[in-house]
Amino acid sequence: MTRRSRPPIWGWNMLELSGLSVTRQGRVVVDDVSLTVEPGKVTALLGANGAGKSELVLGIAGLLPVTGGKVLANGADLTAASPNMVRAAGVAAVPEGHQILTQLSVEDNLRAAAALLPPSGEAETLDFVWSLFPELAERKPQRAGTMSGGQQQMLAIGQALMCKPKYILIDEMSLGLAPLIVKRLTKVVGDLTGRGIGVLLVEQFVEVALQLASHVVVLRKGKVRLSVHPDEVRADRTILSNAYL
Ligand SMILES: Nc1ncnc2c1ncn2[C@@H]1O[C@H](COP(=O)(O)OP(=O)(O)O)[C@@H](O)[C@H]1O
Ligand SMILES: [Mg+2]
Repeated sequence: MTRRSRPPIWGWNMLELSGLSVTRQGRVVVDDVSLTVEPGKVTALLGANGAGKSELVLGIAGLLPVTGGKVLANGADLTAASPNMVRAAGVAAVPEGHQILTQLSVEDNLRAAAALLPPSGEAETLDFVWSLFPELAERKPQRAGTMSGGQQQMLAIGQALMCKPKYILIDEMSLGLAPLIVKRLTKVVGDLTGRGIGVLLVEQFVEVALQLASHVVVLRKGKVRLSVHPDEVRADRTILSNAYL
């Protein structure tokens, strides 16, 4: 019998990227990125279009190959893990542009996303998603593709929650959504962190990001240009604009 190795000191109770790189068609699109997401907290990931935010999310999720560095979730090495292994380890991604199954009902979308759970866990987790999103509970039999953009984003977040994640990565949460829906989703993120879930939030609305985040990271051309507490940005907005430029 092999002895279990002791957990590493670093990254034990957090999602930790250290020196992460992702290459796409021979080009480094995420370059030596280190950041952490803590349980019950939001790390906001900002940056201009093409900065590498989505590639970073896909790299963590096991949907793009990582070419350097490490992804650790509560000490487990997920660097070369498949998407299912990443989800099973408690890290769920909501990719950009809500990739829901438009022909299926709301409820079937959630059930399809629960493949990793035992049947007992499925009912309980479904109840949690209905309580988090009464908007979806009212629309269980509705075909997902006929819902509004905001409701589809809720469903995408609900799908990610169906694997009972410890960490959730939300790419472009409020892209294309009306202010009232953005406000609603902001509250949802607060509910999730209140339950101890750590959130990596890619967000185009800086105000939303600053309101939610306990840490802000700005990417530029795949590299970390800024990594600060949101108070520093509030005190001096030029810090942020300089990091984008
Ligand atoms: N399918 C792809 N094939 C090749 N390169 C891509 C692909 N998708 C994105 N890229 C490139 O990767 C870089 C980072 O893109 P992305 O992560 O989507 O940026 P962001 O999400 O920050 O807007 C960009 O330079 C983009 O051109
Ligand atoms: Mg993107």
